[in-house]
Amino acid sequence: MSAVRTLDVALGARSYPIWIGAGLLADSARWRAPIRGRHVLVVTNTTVAALYLQRVLAGLAGLQHAHLVLPDGEAHKTLDASGQIFAALAALGASRDATILALGGGVIGDLAGFAAASWMRGIDFIQMPTTLLAMVDSSVGGKTGVNLPQGKNLVGAFHQPRAVVADTGTLATLPVREYRAGLAEVVKYGAINDAAFFAWLEVHADALVARDEAALAAAIQASCRAKSAIVARDEHERGERALLNFGHSFGHALETVAGYGTLLHGEAVAIGMLQAATLSTRLGRADAADATRLARLLTRLGLPVQAPPLDAAALLAAMRLDKKNEGGRLRLILWRGIGQAEIVDAVAEDEVAAVLAGS
Ligand code: NAD
Ligand code: GLY
Repeated sequence: MSAVRTLDVALGARSYPIWIGAGLLADSARWRAPIRGRHVLVVTNTTVAALYLQRVLAGLAGLQHAHLVLPDGEAHKTLDASGQIFAALAALGASRDATILALGGGVIGDLAGFAAASWMRGIDFIQMPTTLLAMVDSSVGGKTGVNLPQGKNLVGAFHQPRAVVADTGTLATLPVREYRAGLAEVVKYGAINDAAFFAWLEVHADALVARDEAALAAAIQASCRAKSAIVARDEHERGERALLNFGHSFGHALETVAGYGTLLHGEAVAIGMLQAATLSTRLGRADAADATRLARLLTRLGLPVQAPPLDAAALLAAMRLDKKNEGGRLRLILWRGIGQAEIVDAVAEDEVAAVLAGS
């Protein structure tokens, strides 16, 4: 076991720890502490099960437990898959003090968290993120949900986990494309409100690409700290939390129109952040040099910055369904420059369309 870094998501009685360190999945003495009842359901997917399920099951001796192994992929983050989790909970005889362990990336975390939010109107769950993206973003903050054919994450609930167990040792098996996609969400924290962290990322980009342990641990910790601070101040996204969606309105539209799984979420966010930066420049809100710096960093991290050829009208239609919109008008997260994201209401659709069309 490497040294464990502990952060806290401060939400009063619902506060919870984020543990970050290599070897944590085997440290069941630690992660069993927040389990309150007798029933435990581990939810994972085929890929992660083959690698890490036994490690978690070994820590569950003495509890009534079962596991559900779902097919891998964003295409399975569906109501149908959540129905399978409910069926597994019923078969286990899970009562209101049951706990779900979400072992996997953001897809499993969102899906299992949604099932936990819904089963008997809400049971405990523990996030066990195994992708970089899930460690730095999706496992923290309690957003859970599933996709519909009409759009990403359209059905869901805010439901905070009891703990986040980020075993950084699991990142060793993460495919390079997935790893890089996670770095997009790391960049997001610098882009939205921390210019110094953005500059740190520029200095450490090569080390991060090489998965240097110290750089990676520092980046994960900084990201979790940034996210937990925002969540503690604005759990239900009444204001500031929306900044975490920088690049996401564009990105979700790209994911939806390209077909779930074509672009990885982090890749879509990378392209979306640059589109948001480009739009900010078009609208005269930001200097073009900042968008250039963003593009350069994302490119160095091996991320795409150019959208694939997709129908601009379909993308705009997907953006109109975004949860952040109000009163039928587009509300987007734009920026004044690096570290200065802002919520902008009623953005002119023709300007957005121009960016989507790549002009
Ligand atoms: P993912 O869950 O699909 O995982 C990516 C791939 O890596 C999958 O094939 C998975 O099986 C595999 N994998 C996972 N861990 C592995 C490991 N250690 N070794 C080898 N392979 C491994 O994708 P993701 O990028 O983790 O998450 C994307 C999802 O997260 C999207 O659905 C997105 O909407 C959601 N998300 C949610 C939030 C939130 O706040 N709830 C935030 C950001 C993203
Ligand atoms: N991923 C955005 C949020 O958690 O608010």
